[in-house]
Amino acid sequence: MTSAMEPTILTIFGSMGDLTWRKLAPALYNLLLAHQLPEHFAVIGLDMKDGSAGEFRLRLRDGASSFCECGPVDEKTWNGFAANLTYISGDFGDPATYAALRKQLDAQEKEWNIPANHVFYLAIPPAIVEPIVHKIGEARLAEDRQHVRIVVEKPFGHDLASAIALNGLLTAVFAERQIYRIDHYLGKETVQNILALRFANALFEPVWNQRYIDHVQITVAEQVGVEHRGAYYEHAGALRDMIQNHLMQILTLIAMEPMVSFDADEIRNKKVDVLRAIRPISTEQVQELAVRGQYGAGRMGDQNVPAYRSEPGVAGDSSAETFAAIKLSVDNWRWQGVPFYLRTGKRLKLKASEVTIQFQPVPHQSFPKTAVLAWQPNRLTIHIQPLEGIRLSLQAKQPGSSLHLSPVDMHFSYQEAFKSKSPEAYETLLADVMLGDATLFMRADQVEATWSALDPILQAWADQKPADFPNYPSGSWGPQAADTLIEKDGRSWLQPIPREDEQGDSSREST
Ligand code: BG6
Repeated sequence: MTSAMEPTILTIFGSMGDLTWRKLAPALYNLLLAHQLPEHFAVIGLDMKDGSAGEFRLRLRDGASSFCECGPVDEKTWNGFAANLTYISGDFGDPATYAALRKQLDAQEKEWNIPANHVFYLAIPPAIVEPIVHKIGEARLAEDRQHVRIVVEKPFGHDLASAIALNGLLTAVFAERQIYRIDHYLGKETVQNILALRFANALFEPVWNQRYIDHVQITVAEQVGVEHRGAYYEHAGALRDMIQNHLMQILTLIAMEPMVSFDADEIRNKKVDVLRAIRPISTEQVQELAVRGQYGAGRMGDQNVPAYRSEPGVAGDSSAETFAAIKLSVDNWRWQGVPFYLRTGKRLKLKASEVTIQFQPVPHQSFPKTAVLAWQPNRLTIHIQPLEGIRLSLQAKQPGSSLHLSPVDMHFSYQEAFKSKSPEAYETLLADVMLGDATLFMRADQVEATWSALDPILQAWADQKPADFPNYPSGSWGPQAADTLIEKDGRSWLQPIPREDEQGDSSREST
C-alpha cells in the first residue's frame, strides 16, 4: 500500500454505466495489483438503476476481467477488494440520494475511525452534470475544501459560452483546486514523456524554436467508427470530441516554455500561455485554415464498413464531421512563423497518434546534387500510440564508393527500453486524484482558452452546412481538402508507419 495516500472514499456517480465498466473498473483493479490504492479505501457506487451491492460488485468485476490486460481477476485478490464496495440506488435529482450518500460516507469513516478524503467521480452524461453538482452543493457535501474532490469528464461544454457556464457552476460549489477535469490523453505515458524529452535533455531545447523548426504536425488517427456513440457524436463532431481537448493538450506540451518547477499550477500556467498565444482565426479565414470531413462506406482491412450516415443514432443527412484538420499559429517569440497542423479522424487507414517536429533544411547544401537525391529534412517523431517511442530521422552516407545520402532513423522504443508495461491512462489519473496531484488535469482557464481558439471554426461550420459529405471513404487518410490545406504551404502530411513496419524505412511522405 502507498503510505502517501490518505484514506479515500471514491463515490462513482454512474457506477453501472459504460465508463465505469470499461475504464474505471480495470484501472482500480490494476492499482490494486500495483499496491497503489490507499490502505483505507472504499468505493460507493451510485446509480439510478435499481440494484444491490452484489450487482455492483459483479459489474465492476466483469469490467476488470474484460478490459484489464492482466486477464480475468484473481478470485482471492478480488474478494478482499470487493468487501469495500457498496451501492446506493437513487435518483440523481432527489435530495434523499445525497442524504443516503452522506450516511454511507459517515458510516465508512466511523468504521475506520479516521476522516477520509471524498472523491466524487462523475461518470455520467454531460446533461446531468449540472443537477448533480447543484445537489452536492445543496447537501453541503463539498464544503470541506481540504478533503473533497470532484472528477469531471469531457466534454467540458459545447463551446466557449457553455464552458464558461459549466466552470461557473462547478466553482460555485467547489474551489478550483478541488476540481479534476480529465483529459485521458494526459494520462498516457508517451504524452507525459514529452515534458521529459524536452526539459530533462539539454540537447533539444536550443533547437526547439522558429530558427530551426519548419513546422509541427499532430495526427490522431483512429480506425474505429463512431461505434455505439452516434447520438453523442451527432452533437459533438471531431473538432469538439478530439481537437478541443486531446490534440490541443498535445500542442501545449510541444509548445510551452520550460517550467520552473514540477508544480501543477506552474505547468498549467505555462500551458495556458501557449493557448492564449494562438492566433485568433476569423470566421472568414476558416475556409482557408480548417477542413472537415465525414466518412463514407469503405473497406477497413478485409471488411466492408458502413458510412457514418448509416451508423445507429445518426441522421441520414448528418453534417457532423468525423474528420477535422486545422492549421494554427502560435504568436510568440519561440513559434513565430512555425505552423502547427493538427488532424484527427475516424475510420482512417491506421490507428496512430503521433507528433512530428520537422526541422528546417541545412542552411547550405555542400554535397553534390547527385548525392542528395533522397534528401529529407531532420524529423523528430513522438509516437504516442500504438507505437510508443521516439524516432529521429537523420541523413547518412550510404555505404559504397560513390557519395549518396539517404535518410536513416534512430529509434527509442518504450517496449525495448523499459520491459515493464506502461500503466493505462485512467490508472495514472485515478492515482493522481487520490494523491491530490492536479498536474495532469485541465484547469478552467485552459479549457476556456481552447474553446476560444476553436469557437470561430465551430461557428462557421454551424452556419454553413457541408455540401460534399461524405467526402472520404473509410480506410483512407481523409478528404482531399486536408492534403490541400498543408500542400498549399509546400508541405505534406507524414503518414504514420504501420506497426508491423516499425523497423522499416523512414519514407513517410503522403502520396
Ligand atoms: C475519446 C473520444 O475522448 O477519445 C473518442 O471521445 C475517441 O471518440 C477516444 O475514440 C480515443 O481515445 P484513445 O485513447 O483510444 O486514443
